[in-house]
Formats: sequence, C-alpha cells, structure tokens
Amino acid sequence: MGFEMKAEKDVLELISSKNQCKAKNSNPNSVNSPHNNKKKNIRKKSKKMMMTWRRKKTDSSPEDEITAVRRLFNTCKEVFSDGGPGIVPSEDKIQQLRQILDNMKPEDVGLTPTMPYFRPNAGLGNGSSPPITYLHLHQCDQFSIGIFCLPPSGVIPLHNHPGMTVFSKLLFGTMHIKSYDWVVDAPMKDPKTRLAKVKMDSTLNAPCNASILYPEDGGNMHRFTAKTACAVLDVLGPPYCNPEGRHCTYFLDFPIEIFSSEEDDVLRGEMGKESHAWLQERDDNPEDLNVVGALYRGPKVDED
Ligand SMILES: [Fe+2]
Repeated sequence: MGFEMKAEKDVLELISSKNQCKAKNSNPNSVNSPHNNKKKNIRKKSKKMMMTWRRKKTDSSPEDEITAVRRLFNTCKEVFSDGGPGIVPSEDKIQQLRQILDNMKPEDVGLTPTMPYFRPNAGLGNGSSPPITYLHLHQCDQFSIGIFCLPPSGVIPLHNHPGMTVFSKLLFGTMHIKSYDWVVDAPMKDPKTRLAKVKMDSTLNAPCNASILYPEDGGNMHRFTAKTACAVLDVLGPPYCNPEGRHCTYFLDFPIEIFSSEEDDVLRGEMGKESHAWLQERDDNPEDLNVVGALYRGPKVDED
C-alpha cells in the first residue's frame, strides 16, 4: 500500500511540472511585458524556492527510497552478471546477496500469513500435499526470483537444481528441510538410482538467515515440508531451462539398507546408514507435486 502511495505522489509531481510548462508557454508576451517586473521577481523567488526544494528532495531520495525487492533485483543483476551453468559467484558476491536476503521480510514482497495462499486445506485428508502457490517475480537468462507459499503440511517434493546456485530465504513460518548431495564416484544402483549424502535434516524458524546451495554441494537436492504456513523466497542462478538441459528432476529417497547386497554391506560399513540414502529419479510430474501459479502483487521488482 505504501508503495502505491509513493508512485501516485510521483505521478502527481510529474503532472504538476508539465502543467507549469504549459502555463508558461500559453502567454509568450508575459515574459517581455514591462508591467510584469514585479510578477517576474515573485516568479524568480518562487522558482528559486522550488529549485531548492527539489534539490533537497533529490539529495535525500536515491538509496533511501529504493524498495527491498528492487535492491534484491539490482544485486542479483550484479551477482549473476557473468554467471552460467556450474559457475558459482565469488564469495564477495554471495555474501552481498545473502545480506540482502537475510534482512528481507514478508511485507517487502506484500505478503502476510493471513492471505488465502496460506490457509489450511481441511478437505484433503488423503495424505497428499495441499496446493502450494508460486508467485513469479522475475526471470531472465542469468537468474530467476520467485516465492513459494505453503499452507501447513505443504510439501515441495525432493528435487534438484542442476548447475545452479540457489538462495532460499524463509520469510515467515516453520519449515523442515531435508537436503542431499551426490556421493562422487559411488557405484550406481541402476541408471536411475544413485547414492547421496544427507547435507541438512533440520527445521528452520523464521526469522532466519538465507540458506544457500551450490551446483555440487550445499544440498543441491532438497525437499521442503511446511510445519506451519510459510513463505520461501527463492533466487536461482541460472534458472531452470529445458532447452539448455537444466530441467527439474524429482527423486524418491530410500534408506541404503533397502536395496541389500554384499556390496551395499561394505558401503554401509564405510559410510554409516544414518547419513546416506539412495535417490531414485521419478517422473517429471510426480503426483504429490501440487503447485499452482498466481500473480505477484507486491512492490515492483524489475525496470519493465
Ligand atoms: Fe528448490
């Protein structure tokens, strides 16, 4: 609401300054008319005052008036400017973006927990996830920004982020995250089943810092489970892109002892069953994925 009022004020200022120009041009004789000297002096004074007022306004405006999402967008442009698949931004840039996200709040993107996206869906009761809403904020070749709105018990099934660096900021609520990375050089169980190591298995409570995952580590495969209604702001660099081979793959995770063999007994002995699992590729559209898109209505993100 505050954002709209500011925009309206800017529009009024613009109309006002255009009207001043029109008034000046409507009577060309007034500038040279001798009996207008007094008026000219008054005009000069008021013009001077206006210029001073405008200068003061300009001096205080640049960084103070930028919205949090616009700051996020500008930072993403900088951080991912020379990015690409498998390219991790420098540590400086990562910290720069992390700091912006760490400080972001639901109101910065126009969200409150009372919105319909977050209402518990009492009618389900069949164990499947209630609908999750995705709000698209921006996408370009370098990065994408979006928000997942999860009602209580909402689940985003286990999925990967090929070649990407991903920042996830829990804006409000309580959410469990389980994430994995591949075990490099481990034997494949079959062409669709591979050994992974648990990176994270914990519950986050907002307000909290942003989580970051990388192309090869940091928990590139993850599952989100909403313990309460929650909202997650996601920044992906680069974004998913099917033509470029970066599509989202879903997985099921199985304890390592479920596929038992002598070879696996050796693996279990070496790695410990608590921290490892088999990840098996699923169909592209798993039946427990229930995400619907909705129009983002928060403060304006990009320059369009
Ligand atoms: Fe994800």
